[in-house]
Amino acid sequence: MAILAVFSLLSLLLVAGASTARPPQACPALPRSLPAPTDLPIIEPLPDPWTFFNNASVKSPEDWACRKAELLTLVQEYMYGYYPDHSRETVSAVRNGTALSVTVSVGKKSGSFNVTLSMPTSVNATRRHPVPVVISAGGVNDTVFLGSGIALATFNVGDVAADSFTPGGAFWDLYSGEDIGVITAWAWGFHRILDAIIQEVPEFDQKRVGVIGCSRDGKSALAAGIFDERITLTLPMSSGLEGIAPWRFQFQEFGENEKITNITGYAPYWTNTNLLKFVNNSHQIPFDTHLNVALVAPRAIIWDEGEVDYWTNPEGEARVTFPAAEAVYDWLGASDKIGVAIRNSSHCDISGYTNIQAFMLKQFFGTPTERDYTDISPYTTYPSAYPWLEGASTKKQA
Ligand SMILES: *[C@@H]1O[C@H](CO)[C@@H](O)[C@H](O)[C@H]1NC(C)=O
Ligand SMILES: *[C@@H]1O[C@H](CO)[C@@H](O)[C@H](O)[C@H]1NC(C)=O
Ligand SMILES: *[C@@H]1O[C@H](CO)[C@@H](O)[C@H](O)[C@H]1NC(C)=O
Ligand SMILES: *[C@@H]1O[C@H](CO)[C@@H](O)[C@H](O)[C@H]1NC(C)=O
Ligand SMILES: *[C@@H]1O[C@H](CO)[C@@H](O)[C@H](O)[C@H]1NC(C)=O
Ligand SMILES: *[C@@H]1O[C@H](CO)[C@@H](O)[C@H](O)[C@H]1NC(C)=O
Ligand SMILES: *[C@@H]1O[C@H](CO)[C@@H](O)[C@H](O)[C@H]1NC(C)=O
Ligand SMILES: *[C@@H]1O[C@H](CO)[C@@H](O)[C@H](O)[C@H]1NC(C)=O
Repeated sequence: MAILAVFSLLSLLLVAGASTARPPQACPALPRSLPAPTDLPIIEPLPDPWTFFNNASVKSPEDWACRKAELLTLVQEYMYGYYPDHSRETVSAVRNGTALSVTVSVGKKSGSFNVTLSMPTSVNATRRHPVPVVISAGGVNDTVFLGSGIALATFNVGDVAADSFTPGGAFWDLYSGEDIGVITAWAWGFHRILDAIIQEVPEFDQKRVGVIGCSRDGKSALAAGIFDERITLTLPMSSGLEGIAPWRFQFQEFGENEKITNITGYAPYWTNTNLLKFVNNSHQIPFDTHLNVALVAPRAIIWDEGEVDYWTNPEGEARVTFPAAEAVYDWLGASDKIGVAIRNSSHCDISGYTNIQAFMLKQFFGTPTERDYTDISPYTTYPSAYPWLEGASTKKQA
């Protein structure tokens, strides 16, 4: 009980800033001890965002703070592992021009990694005229960002946590042996870079901060958006399973979609060990990725996907995850903060960056765009995934 209470409190601290927060004692409680994965109820369609774990209804946006806190616990328990307690960490940063070095200490342990800063080409950033920044796990099409007045802060995820069965990197220097997924470790890296930016890079605007990555780094960009309310724009590219692809619905008529069984074979360390127990039991996961996306709300998110990138389940991301997550954004009055950018090409294709550009410029600068980023064509909706949206236009109005 004590432990869960702490988790709920931490979750509420994470959502602090949401004006809708209400005291934790008013929230429906999760069980003292959360069930093992195989003991969870089977839920065939996507879990209803408006139903608490104890089956009580989420009636108002005020209730959403409670549902959000509960979901933050569930995604950590069954997928990401528990995000480290940042209050125990000390972050220090050393800057030399465009080189930024980040050191995080916990007690006697410490871990370091490096970041490269790239200034926009079209504007001169200063403390008085700070520019938005996108923290990037790896290279992008620089022109889309730097050419539009947006800075980049780029790092190698491997320096934060090795993409390997053998733990290595700054995160594991601090948290060796903990049952936390490497996706979460990488997300933590994005956040510690933001801490360092706040200390040492006054040219960057702390209120306009994006996170981006492709493929496995896209999975971590989504996690970075979930676990830190300072992230104002989340940009997962070609993220697939453990990213935006739904657990429950696969569309394999043109090509195979990645499954938990596959990940178990080559990268079980991306998540905690609980997630792997859902092999063949995806319908028992008490959330689906529409709820991971909803955890970012009402902050902005857009994801990129390629139609012929079958392994990442692009149909599922567009037909299943998008409409279900969009319903929550609509209900929270944040309809213009969610988008999807579909292109007819493959995994991590560079045209993806140009494809998301107008959405990003709208979020960062208010630049109008004619493009409808809620358009899921060439796909259509998949109503059997979200039966709880039937008649929702009246029921789900805030
Ligand atoms: C909620 O309802 C479902 C479906 O009836 C059931 O399987 C599940 O056990 C219930 N959950 C709780 C916590 O009572
Ligand atoms: C800063 O970087 C420059 C190269 O850009 C290098 O010459 C210089 O030695 C560095 N200074 C420190 C203190 O590391
Ligand atoms: C970070 O950069 C510094 C200066 O170039 C270098 O000495 C150090 O080894 C780098 N650290 C890591 C973790 O790569
Ligand atoms: C930025 O500063 C440089 C050097 O002072 C100047 O040449 C350039 O015109 C400035 N660019 C903008 C967009 O203000
Ligand atoms: C993925 O896992 C499924 C189910 O175990 C298996 O049939 C398939 O061959 C795997 N695909 C790849 C590319 O490994
Ligand atoms: C999952 O199902 C596949 C195919 O039916 C089977 O071969 C495999 O052993 C199952 N895995 C687990 C962990 O139950
Ligand atoms: C997408 O591209 C493939 C070839 O890469 C082509 O066969 C298909 O017709 C294209 N689909 C659309 C909707 O343009
Ligand atoms: C990079 O982005 C710019 C601006 O959107 C675009 O004109 C260019 O074609 C892109 N380059 C590639 C290789 O996609």
